[in-house]
Amino acid sequence: MLTNDLDFRLEPRLRELYEEHKKRSAKIDWGYHEFLPWDKAQDFRRVPWDPSQVTLPPSIVTAIETALLTEVNLPWFTSHLAQTFKGSLTIIQDFVHTWTAEEDQHSNLLETYLLITRSVDPKRLHELHKMTVENGWEPDFHTPFETMVYTSLQELATMVFYNNVAKEANKHDPDLGKLLRRLAKDETLHYAFYRDVIKFHLQLEPNYCYHLGYVIKNFQMPGAVMPDFDDRMSIIAKEANYGPLEYFDQVLDVIIKYWDIENLRPIAPEAEKARLDLLKYHARMKRVKERFMRSGK
Ligand SMILES: [Fe+2]
Ligand SMILES: [Fe+2]
Repeated sequence: MLTNDLDFRLEPRLRELYEEHKKRSAKIDWGYHEFLPWDKAQDFRRVPWDPSQVTLPPSIVTAIETALLTEVNLPWFTSHLAQTFKGSLTIIQDFVHTWTAEEDQHSNLLETYLLITRSVDPKRLHELHKMTVENGWEPDFHTPFETMVYTSLQELATMVFYNNVAKEANKHDPDLGKLLRRLAKDETLHYAFYRDVIKFHLQLEPNYCYHLGYVIKNFQMPGAVMPDFDDRMSIIAKEANYGPLEYFDQVLDVIIKYWDIENLRPIAPEAEKARLDLLKYHARMKRVKERFMRSGK
């Protein structure tokens, strides 16, 4: 069986990567109080919520609410990461602590924005929030290497999501555009860390290719557990710049190239087979995307 734990020989390099992350994140450190339009806030007891107060288009509200309901599951993401990396590299355990502290602001920022701007029914939001966290999140892979592959994709997808939605949101509320771009910066640094952990492993031992395919081919955002996830994503794809086309161009294609899957040469025959399968999957997705483009989106 080919190992799917992280490699202890890489600990010093990963330590450097972590120090680099802390430096970069200290430079862009922020508090969520800085990004909210507090002047718009009104007491819900004095001025109850009413649908007529909503000024953003429904697709943007859906996008922000979906992002929020993804970020609120942080306790479960952290618990999954903490369990997975128990007994693995301490450097990764340290990173998970830093990562959690950084992620912890994201749902606060999005939720407070939605409440202050009265973009959603606060009661409904509260119920959805509670229901989502109560459902929790449990992926169907549990090894350190596969988890790192998943988090690389997930951070990149989240970064692209925020940046793409920001373009549309900015037309309606520049505060919202700014706030989303702010979140995207955090996700960029997270992505860079996880992505390079995997890259170093593949360079040191190309047989790790064996463990890439399952996670990549079955990738779903962790938010998939929330109510009406598929409907939400199809609205966002049509009206807020993030759908299967963007996923291919800005996530899947980017990561396959960054990890240089094409030029890796694993020794183990099963790892080489897995690598070729993954390249085939990538080529098939590319054809699907091109057909979709030709049919006029
Ligand atoms: Fe986040
Ligand atoms: Fe993140």
